[in-house]
Amino acid sequence: GLKKKEVHVLCLGLDNSGKTTIINKLKPSNAQAQDIVPTIGFSIEKFKTSSLSFTVFDMSGQGRYRNLWEHYYKDCQAIIFVIDSSDKLRMVVAKEELDTLMNHPDLKHRRIPILFFANKMDLRDAVSSVKVSHLLSLEDIKDKPWHICASDAIKGEGLQEGVDWLQDQIQ
Ligand code: GTP
Ligand code: MG
Repeated sequence: GLKKKEVHVLCLGLDNSGKTTIINKLKPSNAQAQDIVPTIGFSIEKFKTSSLSFTVFDMSGQGRYRNLWEHYYKDCQAIIFVIDSSDKLRMVVAKEELDTLMNHPDLKHRRIPILFFANKMDLRDAVSSVKVSHLLSLEDIKDKPWHICASDAIKGEGLQEGVDWLQDQIQ
């Protein structure tokens, strides 16, 4: 068949936000892992959409590994940034990490798309995706296309909408 266009994506966000659960859910069901454990360092995952073949660097969000993120900025063509919508205490930490990455020289002047997942929308404590975008000041992002989706990675809700948006940005 026709070869799909290959896209390199970085999946970022604090530990426990649900990055690995999201990426796992985007794979065909027979390739999905049953048990998700905290990522050590990073893990390279692949999934396909109708027109694209994604290679995802699923990074660990633990504090001690976050210094690895910047080494992969140069070669990525899109970013998926995951937020735990129920973790109000650490929303400010997520914002700090986002601000740091947006100001990094390897990303600063590039129009790469950023897809935000306001994840764990199923939890009673979760704030809306609109609230998450205010808390992270996403409206201040002027030099990159971005989009936020509320998601429940366990049920797989909201993921397709996000990936469809990403695919449109990359065509
Ligand atoms: P690190 O690899 O440590 O950076 O974490 P991560 O962002 O990859 O998180 P991971 O996917 O390992 O998920 C952390 C925990 O959150 C797991 O227990 C998941 O089952 C749970 N989780 C992920 N997504 C959701 C969600 O949408 N809703 C709920 N309720 N739990 C979720
Ligand atoms: Mg992980």
